Amino acid sequence: MNTEVDHLHLAGDKKKTIENIVSKIKNPKILELGVHHGVSTKLFLEICEKNDGYLTSIDIKDDSSVSNSSKWKFILSSDDNFEYIEKFLEHKFDLLLIDSLHDPDHIQKVFYFYYNFVKVGGIILIDDISWLPYVMNSVFNNEYIENTNREIFLKILEIYNSNIDNFSLSFDFKDTGLAILRKKNENLNECKKMISREYSFKNTIKKFIYKPKPKL
Ligand SMILES: C[S@@+](CC[C@H](N)C(=O)[O-])C[C@H]1O[C@@H](n2cnc3c(N)ncnc32)[C@H](O)[C@@H]1O
Repeated sequence: MNTEVDHLHLAGDKKKTIENIVSKIKNPKILELGVHHGVSTKLFLEICEKNDGYLTSIDIKDDSSVSNSSKWKFILSSDDNFEYIEKFLEHKFDLLLIDSLHDPDHIQKVFYFYYNFVKVGGIILIDDISWLPYVMNSVFNNEYIENTNREIFLKILEIYNSNIDNFSLSFDFKDTGLAILRKKNENLNECKKMISREYSFKNTIKKFIYKPKPKL
């Protein structure tokens, strides 16, 4: 992923949205997957300093120099090295940010593992769920990210469709988008494939023949 695009991930409006969510939590315990230059890390640490919180971050690259705050623990590891990471997770978290490897299967894998470490009532944020800035002739015009972010969005919907009673879900489409989930209970069902009828024979016919008429 190029740096110019990375830079905009948590810029402006979206950063404000995250700040509004996190600053409402008393003594926030935050878990972050993906540090990089530390835009979200620094935002979380600012809030942790103010509200007596604590941030734990994981990255596959050594980003430990991003901060020397006493409110921060950095774990150098792939976030799916669960056996290794579990030893560091001593408590449940109020907030989880998933912003590491932007791949739908990886997101599903880490979501299902770290969900158990989020408190009931806690929030899970998944970054970069919008493909709109990447479509042709849009600001970033990047076919790979356009398709990946759309797949991530659909994957989140698929997980949600199997778990409607277990967490709430909303999407913020500012910038590169953010999924906002709130855990309702400790249950989490396996993700079942949604069978789309988008390309069914009936729907194809409908596109050409059927046009709804206004009801009088
Ligand atoms: C989009 S950047 C994170 C941006 C950061 N949250 C911010 O707002 O500035 C993605 C980061 O995830 C890290 N990463 C990629 N795959 C990973 C994995 N499997 N486990 C942990 N970190 C990973 C990359 O090294 C990179 O630093």
